[in-house]
Amino acid sequence: HHEEKLRDEKLLQICRLLEENIDYYDWVGFYFRNGDKEELLLGPYVGEPTDHTVIPFGKGICGQVAVSNQNFVVPDVHAQDNYIACSITVKSEIVVPMFVDGKNIGQIDIDSNVLDAFTDLDERFLEFVNEEVAKLF
Ligand code: SME
Repeated sequence: HHEEKLRDEKLLQICRLLEENIDYYDWVGFYFRNGDKEELLLGPYVGEPTDHTVIPFGKGICGQVAVSNQNFVVPDVHAQDNYIACSITVKSEIVVPMFVDGKNIGQIDIDSNVLDAFTDLDERFLEFVNEEVAKLF
């Protein structure tokens, strides 16, 4: 699985680039669908380690995006019922799905320690990042 390893290294570099250059991006990672199972697996990421390496479809912000196929911008994570807390410092979150041949294969997930950190610009930018990443699959 040499090709998968190379791809994961590229994804990790993308996470690093985003986290280091955008000051309100505090945790940056990818989740991908586990084959045909209705669950997400944590892929490359930077930031605090998380216990949530497997997320069932429907659960948390990530699990909801796996089902809705829509961007999910959360200005205040504490105001969300269906939310999986990874760190007490996180205040807002954005999850943008990634598509290959129209199929939702995963997502990029970004946490911020800043309240209401994400705008339309982040959505457009992360859609672009995901389109580029999708070409690796
Ligand atoms: N907060 C996410 C879980 C993943 S962590 O942010 C890394 C959620 O509610 O799905």
